[in-house]
Formats: sequence, structure tokens, C-alpha cells
Amino acid sequence: MNTDQLVRTFTEYFEERGHRRITGSTLLPPPGDPVLFTTSGMHPLTPYLEGRPHPLGRRLVNVQRCLRTTDLDEVGDRTHLTVFEMLGSWSLGDYEGPQSLDWGYGLLTDGFGIDPDRLHVTVFGGDEHVGPDTGSLELWQDRGVPVELTVEDNWWSNGPTGPCGPDSEIFLWTGDTPPESTPTRDDRWVEVWNHVMMRHRRLDDGSLVPLPQRNVDTGLGLERLSSLLQGRSSVFDCDVFEPWRRLLPPLWQLDEPSLRVVCDHLRSAVVVIGDGVRPSNTGRGYVLRRLIRRVLTVLHREDPGRGLGDLPGELLRHTLDRFRQSEDPGTVHRVLLDEEQRFDRLLERGRQVLSRPRFHGPLTEDDLHYLHDTHGLPRDLVLDLRPR
Ligand code: SER
Repeated sequence: MNTDQLVRTFTEYFEERGHRRITGSTLLPPPGDPVLFTTSGMHPLTPYLEGRPHPLGRRLVNVQRCLRTTDLDEVGDRTHLTVFEMLGSWSLGDYEGPQSLDWGYGLLTDGFGIDPDRLHVTVFGGDEHVGPDTGSLELWQDRGVPVELTVEDNWWSNGPTGPCGPDSEIFLWTGDTPPESTPTRDDRWVEVWNHVMMRHRRLDDGSLVPLPQRNVDTGLGLERLSSLLQGRSSVFDCDVFEPWRRLLPPLWQLDEPSLRVVCDHLRSAVVVIGDGVRPSNTGRGYVLRRLIRRVLTVLHREDPGRGLGDLPGELLRHTLDRFRQSEDPGTVHRVLLDEEQRFDRLLERGRQVLSRPRFHGPLTEDDLHYLHDTHGLPRDLVLDLRPR
């Protein structure tokens, strides 16, 4: 099943069960939201999880693009991407958690053809504030799926305050042997789908109060599921990355970890630009700037002659289409090239300044402040040019 078929199967399955599809899925949260980028499918739905009626009703389904910078260090492993798509379904005070899990189980096994013996789930075991999630536990026991009970791992929140609740996570076995052990003890169990029983709100003082309605919020990482269903060992090997794997290696010889970083960050940069962000020194623009600069640093490491001027237009078009963005690929390329030029000028200035005798010894914190404040040389760049 390719990624487009997967999206269709998911959305139609929930539409057949009374869910309405949300349109629009920009990475930019609404004005007033303190978070820079949309981090999960539920993020734009926060007011509706808190009780405001949603214009499309109480059952929703969506494909939401998300950006997570907290996972930046994990980029390049087999399951994490900076920008990814999340399939999601919601019950806004309508059906309960066990119904959601039952539909989820049906879709994974009948819809996607996953062997039920390769599934394991985790369920909230209860703590001093909230009791164990017996509804989920009973549902899984009925279906014969093995359950592991945890506490912290099965509590989901999008931040220190706001809607939160116990969750039940569904894992798929990816090992070459028959399934063994449990999700928290063996990372060959890969999480594919999270169902959150979003019934609580955490207040500023840390206390929990019930939300006005009992919601269910589910999220499923699209590229991760695609790679699993396509029998690939990493997200970078699923069909979404096919053009990247075909077009980049002949252009730039890179080892596998570097190729993954370049694919991930360039693709993310294209999507961020496609949503209207431009490089800058603050906020969203700074995240974009960091993504582009990291690509350039990797490319220049072995050959300073490599640059984004050679980037095939097909990759820009493919990415903008995949994320249903209408930005012109030529405009995106110009933004990337302008940023590259700016970075090149900064590198040149950095090399000149750092060649001064004053900086020949080890760099101190004061040196780094001076280089930043007086010469506009960011710390990361200085450390790339001259590690301490
Ligand atoms: N909010 C949960 C998550 O992001 C489920 O959608 O994993």
C-alpha cells in the first residue's frame, strides 16, 4: 500500500463511521498560540477539546502536517522526522476510548492487513491522581492483544498545562524473530498509533480538573506507518522519500546518516517555506534558518563547492504536492538560495575574524559573546568553524 492509498483508506474508514474530514492543515498555529509550529493533530483542536462546539460536529478525521524540533537530535534514526504528517481521529465528547481502540484494531488488521499477532499495546496503569484505564484494558483483553501497563509512558499532554489524559499506544513488532518481550523493554516494538482519553485539564498550579466533555484524540505518524506497511526498516526508505533517494546520491555523495539529515531538513525547510515562513533570526524563521544551515554545513563538510543551486526542481514540486501546498517551487528555491548566499557571506566573515591572532587559542564564553554581538557570528557557526 503506498502512502496515498494509506491516507485514503484511513480517512474513508473514519468517514464511514460518521467522521467529517477537516480541511486545512498549516504548520502555523493560530495567532496568540505560544507554540511556534503545530506539533500534533490535536494541537489546532485544543479549543474544541476544551468544549467549544466544532463546526463539523463531534466526530472528526484529519491529516495534519506537524513539526517537532524536540526530536531534532533523533533525526536520522529509523523513525523520527522533523516535519511529518499525522493521521488523526477525534471524538469530541461523543464515543468513548474502547470504541476508538476497537475501530483502530479493525483498521490495522482488516484495513491494513497487519497480522494481529504482531501487535502489543500499552495502557495507563493508574497513579495517585487517576485510576487505571480499565476500559482500555478490558477491550484489549477481549481482542486477545497483549497489554503492558505503565504510568508516565501512558499519560499524554501537549505541554505543562492544558488538555491531557491517559493513553493507550499500539505497537507493531518489527523484529526478524517471532514477537518477544514488551514495548518498554524492546525497541523492535515500534509505536504506530496513540489513542488519548482526553478527559482532564492540567492547571497552572499542577492540579488536574475534568474537561467539560470526555474526548478521544488519536494520532498516527504517516511516514512511520508507511514504512512499516511497506516492509522498510526506516522512514527514509518508504515511498515518500523515493525521489530523494533517486536524485540526491548522484548529485552529492553522502554517507547514510548525512543523507538522512539532508533529506529530512531540506524537505522540512521546503514545507516550512511553503507555509509562508522566511528565514530570520527569531521564532519560526530561526528554526527554518537552522534547518537550512545544517544542510549546508553537512554538504560543505566534504566539498565546499556543493550547494543548493543544483537541487532538482522535482524534489521541490514533489514535496509541495505531497503536503498539498500551493507555493511556487521557483519561489521556494529562491528563498533557499538567498539563505545559502547569506550563509556563505557569514562563513567568509567568520573565517576572516577567526584568523586574527586574538582567537588562535581556545575560545572562551566571552569570545563567543563578542563574536556574536560585534560581528554577528552565531555561536553554532563559530563552533562549526573552530570547535572549542
Ligand atoms: N495527541 C496524541 C499524539 O500526538 C494523539 O494524537 O500522539
